[in-house]
Amino acid sequence: MAPLCSSLRILAVLTMAMACHIPPSLSYSRPPARRTLSVPLAEDADEVTPQQVHISLVGADKIRVTWLTEGEAPSTVDYGTSSGVYPFSASGSASSYSYVLYSSGQIHDVVIGPLQPDTLYYYRCGSNAGRELSFKTPPAHLPIKFAVVGDLGQTGWTNSTLNHVSGSGYDVLILPGDLSYADTDQPLWDSYGRLVEPLASSRPWMVTEGNHEVEKIPMVESTPFKAYNARWRMPYDASGSKSNLYYSFDVAGGSVHVVMLGSYTGFGSSSDQYRWLVEDLAKVDRNRTWVVAVVHAPWYNTNKAHQGEGEDMMDAMEELLYAARVDVVFAGHVHAYERFTRVYDDGANGCGAVHITIGDGGNREGLAEDFQDPQPEISLFREASFGHGQLEILNSTHALWSWHRNDDDEEVVSDKVWLTSLSSNPACITK
Ligand SMILES: [Fe+2]
Repeated sequence: MAPLCSSLRILAVLTMAMACHIPPSLSYSRPPARRTLSVPLAEDADEVTPQQVHISLVGADKIRVTWLTEGEAPSTVDYGTSSGVYPFSASGSASSYSYVLYSSGQIHDVVIGPLQPDTLYYYRCGSNAGRELSFKTPPAHLPIKFAVVGDLGQTGWTNSTLNHVSGSGYDVLILPGDLSYADTDQPLWDSYGRLVEPLASSRPWMVTEGNHEVEKIPMVESTPFKAYNARWRMPYDASGSKSNLYYSFDVAGGSVHVVMLGSYTGFGSSSDQYRWLVEDLAKVDRNRTWVVAVVHAPWYNTNKAHQGEGEDMMDAMEELLYAARVDVVFAGHVHAYERFTRVYDDGANGCGAVHITIGDGGNREGLAEDFQDPQPEISLFREASFGHGQLEILNSTHALWSWHRNDDDEEVVSDKVWLTSLSSNPACITK
């Protein structure tokens, strides 16, 4: 009888599964969070050894190189297109910050260029002969590939995600907030800088802030975003913004406009950010451009975690993004993956943005496993697993979005969908 009973049970389960349309995510056993890694300074490093090197885009053909040294050192970058040969050199500045009892090293900031597109450059920071690095500039036209990963942290899962991102062949990384999870423990910012350096020194990393970047302590540390603004300077002034907390940039010769918004600074209609966004979107040529927006707290979210936290910002700004025909909105904050259909004003809308939550980079807090039940129709795919996304914009009309789950340490493509630009949809073209 036992085998028959168990066969019947299996049959019953299979029948229920078919009737309930169980999504593929339920077949995956979710792993626990992994421990925070500690990435020490190299043993042979001294006071002037460049460390925590990362690069970001500045305008159409320049790159900002940012790095730290423990002590005073030259803020210079030597660079060229052959290893060991540096016909070009640029100088910048250095700064430091203090946070309670912590004093940072020297944070160097040098903008280099003009640079050729889609070209491998070799460089050294502070004329330090011991550390040659290299990066590739993005292409001047489509196609272009973005890696997108939020709430990255610095755990064993972060490492797994970074390994997968590294092998993706991406041109530019977009991070929708929550970088180091230092959470006021400043040396963790240094450790994070060392962990991400192999990737962040070789491709532009464009970030915006999350709640873990605020690091304000009542009565003790009153300046928010102290470490974030000092260490992760973005090209806000190049886009007319007055704040490092929101900015925009163009890539692929202006074929893609990316708006990096700030969820933790003013966003209401009388705020500087709002006024800046109106002007920024007005400048976009929608006849030729994909528009991507990035926030931290998701505006659309069917996870029980952080429910409703993005709604005030959505109430203030969604209309602007809709009128500008923004194609995709990426968010982080919720430690899971979720993709919506095109939406506007809480409903499906063919001229609205595809909203994607990608807060699953690998932080120490673990996954947000509880979703609202039943799954609303506008939510097309959701799963609580660590991973990263890739947005490959192929031409003016088509882009391929894929989500890559960390299946233990293997990379598994779990969600893949073609996106069509709103600028190619006559029904969505506005005058
Ligand atoms: Fe967050």
